[in-house]
Amino acid sequence: MSRPFVLTTPIYYVNGLPHIGHTYSTVVADTLARYHRLAGEDVYFQTGVDEHGEKVQAAADAAGETPQAYTDRISGQWQATWDALNLSHDRFFRTTEAESKAAVQVMAQRVWDAGQIEFREYEGLYCVGCERFLTDRDMEGGLCKDHEKAPEPRREANYFFKMSEHFSWLAETLEENPDFLQPTRYRNEVLAMIREGSGLEDLCISRPKERLSWGVPLPFDEDYVCYVWFDALVNYLTGCGWPNEPGWEERWRECTHLIGKDILKPHGIYWPTMLHAAGLPLPKGIRVHGHWQIEDRKVSKSLGNLIDPLVMKERYGFSPFRYFMLREMSFGLDSSFAEDAMIERTNAHLANALGNLFSRTLNMTARYSDATVPTPGPTGDEEARVRQAAADAATAVDKHLRAFETHLALEALFRLVDAANRYVDHREPWKAAKDPEREEEVRTTLYTCCQALRAIALLLAPFLPDAAVTMLERLGIPDALDTVVLPADGERWDALLPGTPTTKGDALFPRLELIEDA
Ligand code: MSP
Repeated sequence: MSRPFVLTTPIYYVNGLPHIGHTYSTVVADTLARYHRLAGEDVYFQTGVDEHGEKVQAAADAAGETPQAYTDRISGQWQATWDALNLSHDRFFRTTEAESKAAVQVMAQRVWDAGQIEFREYEGLYCVGCERFLTDRDMEGGLCKDHEKAPEPRREANYFFKMSEHFSWLAETLEENPDFLQPTRYRNEVLAMIREGSGLEDLCISRPKERLSWGVPLPFDEDYVCYVWFDALVNYLTGCGWPNEPGWEERWRECTHLIGKDILKPHGIYWPTMLHAAGLPLPKGIRVHGHWQIEDRKVSKSLGNLIDPLVMKERYGFSPFRYFMLREMSFGLDSSFAEDAMIERTNAHLANALGNLFSRTLNMTARYSDATVPTPGPTGDEEARVRQAAADAATAVDKHLRAFETHLALEALFRLVDAANRYVDHREPWKAAKDPEREEEVRTTLYTCCQALRAIALLLAPFLPDAAVTMLERLGIPDALDTVVLPADGERWDALLPGTPTTKGDALFPRLELIEDA
């Protein structure tokens, strides 16, 4: 049995449509899932939508639809967007599915049976944008930091999960398992939240039906529905087959949650303590990324500064946008998005560096080797250096992607592209081809470039799957991805056989120009 690799994205609220932030999370997960599949692992990649709660009910009211009709429509649009962007998730999870609702009820009942839920009166400041009561730390000048809106004072009798009873266990667990929550700054942030108390007491896990009917009924009190976060987090377990499917534990043990830093508290505190209270094991880990900003503000629906991935695709094709997101953001830190920066990067890295290497190699192969991979003559140090660069790239991509560092993985891959370009520049096969005595040297040079391009295409496949397929087709090995095992196959230097037919064609990455908003 191959090793399982299980990865989840957050499930997104359906009160709006995907923007750059959601797209980034899902594209990072897609890249990881594709890499681990190419590494021969048994991958399960889940994304989906969070369909209950006040925000969604309010959006449905505003649209004049029932919540179910509204969420059917919007969830369909999310699904269609991810399909249009060729994302490779194994399951699109919806919290309105019967399976999800049943699992949430099992979880609520377990925590209730464990004596971990209490009925109490509570007064606090609630932000509908965050779907939770805020603490001082969450506010600035009386406004929610994320949504820049004043929270509403609320007083209600509700069910509370005795979360604070699990804080010392959680702090210990995080201390003892430093790899569970990464990057380290976010682990420290959660430890600080626990240490300072920061108003984090017990967690209100119910909403009275008379105020909010759009949710999963609590199994032990039909006048209440489940708080949307309590409902949503369970999706991760349900996706692994919990509670009924045999073998769910094997998946769960290998499950990593990829999240944005805005939802660190629910994932770093609510979720592990809920699992602990229910007597369930923790997943393998949590990985936290930063935020895309535009003019230094977080992109969000309520602030209205959106970048629509479908518009990016229509304007420039999806690859430049995908490349920029994976390359520009240091995993864990914030980054700024600007269309002109994306175009500049794409033109430099994809059109110039990689695109040129590809087109000049294939043009010369057509011209000097009858459009087939040539038979090489003896090789020397220069060829050995390119070959070494490919081996280094394969190792580095593997290492960095396993740490979710897509930016470092791409940097390493482009060191190989640069090494191959330097090699051709130095060998100048277009000059050597004029001298019949140097015919063998030309064959060696083009053979080396073809092998390098094969390695580049294989290693590029998780990041830019469409471009990689085109490259492999034109290198005459269209099915290479079906049998490849990375990183080992990225290092092989004899897999592209002399005589394999190659095809020159249009530019792999056309140079882009900025398209202004209409
Ligand atoms: N429904 C909850 C998550 C429940 S998971 C059990 C939710 N949904 S959301 O629609 O608001 O999506 C939040 C996620 O979108 C973030 O965690 C992050 O993954 C992504 N992003 C939203 N805005 C973002 C940026 N500006 N930049 C990067 N990603 C951010 O919260």
